[in-house]
Amino acid sequence: MEVIIQSSPERSAALAAKMVARLVREKPDAVLGLPTGGTPVPLYAELVRLHREEKLDFAKVRTFNLDEYVGLASDNASSYHAFMRGHLFDHINVQAKNIHIPDGMAKDISAACNAYEEAIRKTGGIDMQLLGIGTDGHIGFNEPSSSLSSRTRLKTLTDKTMHFNQSHFAPGQKVPRYAITMGVGTIMDAKQCVLLASGSAKASVVQQMIEGPVTAMVPASVLQMHPRTTIILDDDAAKSLRLKDYYRFVYGNKPDWQRCE
Ligand code: PGA
Repeated sequence: MEVIIQSSPERSAALAAKMVARLVREKPDAVLGLPTGGTPVPLYAELVRLHREEKLDFAKVRTFNLDEYVGLASDNASSYHAFMRGHLFDHINVQAKNIHIPDGMAKDISAACNAYEEAIRKTGGIDMQLLGIGTDGHIGFNEPSSSLSSRTRLKTLTDKTMHFNQSHFAPGQKVPRYAITMGVGTIMDAKQCVLLASGSAKASVVQQMIEGPVTAMVPASVLQMHPRTTIILDDDAAKSLRLKDYYRFVYGNKPDWQRCE
């Protein structure tokens, strides 16, 4: 696990965007796993800028989103379909046929989840999975106690997650109780994972994820077992790490050939 501490969420986003850009320039039909939430917003803004100003080409890129609420149609303003259009897809040249987001309106959810897994498999697998982390340690919507080898499936959200996500819904509109999410095992199959976290509200869970035991009670901690994971933090999210001076030294003294940006 590589831990990189940056001075601001914007610098974290810029670094993650550089990693995406390098992958897409090396492999134009790269398969990206994409998150939603507040954390990736500056990252998507930077990718849009790279597309507009530096001609970063998404024409062949394929994308798979982590999750979607059950019961929200793709045109619902609170759906993750709408989030992705608003923050990224409407502003870059990704092709509609290459975009995949779980269907929250699927009649047969189990079949839709299996089809999602199959679609990922058919591409040859996710090259880079971008991730955020919930304050309870979830990745995707894999809440605490999720099987660490779970696949795409229906998941019941915790009260805490529903409460936290209420701010993304219109007043009076309830956060759905259920979601479809890639499983922890699905995420672990990605060739590379890049997780971003910022703000002091994430400091405790970030410490558990990086320095605590691997446990289903903090699903993100399974990334300790992933062969190629980079965690990009701002100072606030990093503040409870016991080895933060060590992580800073390691990153500051990396030979150029090993740098990830
Ligand atoms: P956030 O959500 O980016 O809005 O903090 C992260 C998550 O729940 O995975």
